[in-house]
Amino acid sequence: MEGVIFKLIKLLLLVLYLHNGNISIHAARHQNLIYYSLPEKRPLKKALGFIEDTYLNFTELTNKYGYPTEQHDVITDDGYILAVFRILPKCDGQKRGFPIILMHGIYDSSDEWILTGPETGLGYILANNCYDVWAANHRGNVYSRRHVTLNPNKDADFWDYTFDEHGYYDVPAIVDYVLRITQQPKVNYIGHSQGTTDFFVMGSLRPEYNNKIQMSFHLSPVAWMKNIASPLPRLVAPASKSIRRLLDDLGFRELFAKHQFIHSLLEFLCQFAPDDICGEAYTAATGYKRGNISSRNLAVSFGHLFAGISSKDLDHFGQLVATGRFQRYDYGMKENIKRYGSPIPPEYDVSKITSAVVLISAQNDGVSSLKDVEILASKLPNLIENYLVPDPSWSHNDQVFGKKAPKIVFAKIVELLNKYNS
Ligand SMILES: *[C@@H]1O[C@H](CO)[C@@H](O)[C@H](O)[C@H]1NC(C)=O
Ligand SMILES: *[C@@H]1O[C@H](CO)[C@@H](O)[C@H](O)[C@H]1NC(C)=O
Ligand SMILES: *[C@@H]1O[C@H](CO)[C@@H](O)[C@H](O)[C@H]1NC(C)=O
Repeated sequence: MEGVIFKLIKLLLLVLYLHNGNISIHAARHQNLIYYSLPEKRPLKKALGFIEDTYLNFTELTNKYGYPTEQHDVITDDGYILAVFRILPKCDGQKRGFPIILMHGIYDSSDEWILTGPETGLGYILANNCYDVWAANHRGNVYSRRHVTLNPNKDADFWDYTFDEHGYYDVPAIVDYVLRITQQPKVNYIGHSQGTTDFFVMGSLRPEYNNKIQMSFHLSPVAWMKNIASPLPRLVAPASKSIRRLLDDLGFRELFAKHQFIHSLLEFLCQFAPDDICGEAYTAATGYKRGNISSRNLAVSFGHLFAGISSKDLDHFGQLVATGRFQRYDYGMKENIKRYGSPIPPEYDVSKITSAVVLISAQNDGVSSLKDVEILASKLPNLIENYLVPDPSWSHNDQVFGKKAPKIVFAKIVELLNKYNS
């Protein structure tokens, strides 16, 4: 049966992309890996009247709006090459406070901080407030699909990671890099969704990094997921292991990538029906209420979203939902004993996060529920503010893309940054 499915998928990919794309299928040590790539087709997008910001990359967007940026490549201890984009302060006064690292959420990239434009993107607002901004990309996404020895198109091992590795390797490597280049003793950190999980993992597994953090902000914090409201993850979580095994056997270890079909399809549909298709997708996934994000930003966001994750990452989140624990990846009893010295994976000990933390949560967040945020908040030893956005319809992605985000979220961040960075 699996052989047949595998052949059908190959055939389908062939038909879809033979005209102009690239496909390769590799079987290494009994590990299949399918790689295919759709051509970008910018002239077609232009001809169809796409909003330009949908398909411009980070550097093109910041250039367009007159913000000088630099691309830096950071190499992790295990060989991944991560792109971090620096937006230089753009203000009359002197550079302010410590540098700020921005870490995007799942399926996303550094672009999430700027895609709404120069008036409303947090990356720009921080630069306008004289901060030195570093918008990071975790391993495996469109900008960080690189490794010193592994080939993401051919080596299944490249995709063997979850947010555990983001927290253990990626964030510490980025923190050390920024400190070295800027010659500063500390950084600030702002994460959204999985970008918060990455930080909680680092603070728990590598508590020595707390000395390098001035303060961290967590938009829609994700750690405990016992009370997630969104129905789809609840439904799928108990089967996440079988789903991952099936995907891996078929060769799909990289999911929701920018060069894959689902991205092109949604990017296209969202240009023409942003509220009806993309708004509804956000509603199903996160509880989003129509109207809270402009149609323009819905359309543009789906040109950048689906920047690529690993199947193992989704499985790890499935385990958090299914067990109700914020714990390391579950490899099964035998392997757990070998790796962790216990039959079940240890929980991340967030009580080791001694640096100053600000949580920013939303009342209508289908992913980061208030009950779960309470569990996290009760364990954090240095929580300086647990801010609940005062709008009952406020949801997961409104935190970054919402019409009112500059007023009710970003102003709060800037106020607290200024207070603790002077
Ligand atoms: C396909 O691969 C070839 C050779 O590696 C490369 O030159 C070409 O640009 C690729 N095409 C696309 C659409 O990615
Ligand atoms: C962004 O686009 C420009 C122009 O197409 C290209 O030269 C550059 O390499 C791209 N940057 C990244 C990080 O992909
Ligand atoms: C968000 O959506 C809710 C429900 O549709 C609406 O009451 C509220 O005014 C919206 N907020 C914004 C900023 O559009």
